[in-house]
Amino acid sequence: MLLIPGVKFIFGKLYCIDDPMLAVTKKGLCFKNPVGLAAGFDKNATLFKSFRHLGFGYIEVGTVTPLPQPGNPKPRLFRLPKDHALINRMGFNNEGVKAMKKRLEGRATDFIIGGNIGKNKITANEDAANDYLQCFRELQPVVDYFVVNVSSPNTPGLRALQEKEPLTKLLLSVKKLAAEMHSTQPILLKIAPDLNSDELNDIIEIVKTTEIDGVIATNTTISREGLKSSQHEIKKSGEGGLSGKPLKSRSTEIIKFLRDKLGNEPLIIGVGGIETPGDAIEKLNAGADLLQLYTGFIYSGPSLIKQINKKIIQGK
Ligand code: FNR
Repeated sequence: MLLIPGVKFIFGKLYCIDDPMLAVTKKGLCFKNPVGLAAGFDKNATLFKSFRHLGFGYIEVGTVTPLPQPGNPKPRLFRLPKDHALINRMGFNNEGVKAMKKRLEGRATDFIIGGNIGKNKITANEDAANDYLQCFRELQPVVDYFVVNVSSPNTPGLRALQEKEPLTKLLLSVKKLAAEMHSTQPILLKIAPDLNSDELNDIIEIVKTTEIDGVIATNTTISREGLKSSQHEIKKSGEGGLSGKPLKSRSTEIIKFLRDKLGNEPLIIGVGGIETPGDAIEKLNAGADLLQLYTGFIYSGPSLIKQINKKIIQGK
C-alpha cells in the first residue's frame, strides 16, 4: 500500500522529522534518529522499504535462522489490553536467511538496517554457533549491524546460550568470522530482562572480554508479575514472552546497570515498554544511545515515532 506513488510523500509529511539534531553517530554508523523498529516485526525483510517512511531512524530485521521454519502453532500472539502488553510465542517463524538476503541485496544504503540472527529449532545448542555463523556469513554484505539473539523465550533451550561459557564461545566465534571476512559491522548482543544480578555481571564481563560493540536490552520477559489482566486472560494466553508496559521499568533498570558498568563506549539500544515520549526519554536518560519500539507501536501506531523525536528535539 505504501508504495503507491504519492503515498510515500504523504506519509513522509505526516510521520517523518528530518532534523540533524536527531542524528546519532556511534560505532561508525549514522542513524537519522534514535527511534528504531525492534526485531520480530519485519522478520523476513519484507517491510523495511515502506516502514522507513513512517519515520523510523533504523530497522532491525529478523530474527532470521539458516533454514526456513514455521514457528509455533497458531494462535501464538495475544493482546492484554488492560496492561498495554502482548504475549507471544511465535518461535522464530521465518523464511530463512537466503530469502532475507535476496530481499536486502541492492537496497538503498542511506538507511540503517540491522540483522538479528538466531538458530533453528532443530539445531542442538552444541551446534548453535554454526547457525549464527551461517546467518552472519550470508547477511554480511547486506546489513549495517548484527544482533546475536540468545534471549527469545520461544525456542526451547535458547536462553541457556546466555550462560557465561557458551555465550563467550559463541561471541568469540562470531568475532573470529567477522575478522576473517574483514567485516566492520558492529556486533551487538540482545539479552533477556529475566537475568539476575549475577548473570548480568557475567554479561558485563563477557562484553568486555569478547570486545563486542554493544547490547540490546531487552527482549520479552517470561514473568507475569504485577499484571492488571485477569488470571483467566493471562492463563488463556499461555506460555511466551511478555512485552509492553509491564516490561518498561525492568528494561530501563538493566540499561542503567549496563551503562554504569560498561562506560560510554558500547552501543546500548533500549527496548521494552516504550509507549510515550516520556518513556523514551527515561531510557535515554538511563544511558541508551538508541531506542526500539514494538508493542507501543502496535498500540499507538506510527505517530508515536514522531512524538518521541519531537520530545527529543525539545529537550536539546
Ligand atoms: C518480539 N521480539 C523479538 N525479539 C527478537 O530479538 N527476535 C524476534 O524474532 C522477536 N520477535 C518478536 C515477536 C513479537 C510478536 C513481539 C511482541 C516481540 C521482542 C522485541 O524485539 C522487543 O525486544 C520486546 O517486544 C520488548 O519491546 P516492546 O515490545 O515492549 O516495545
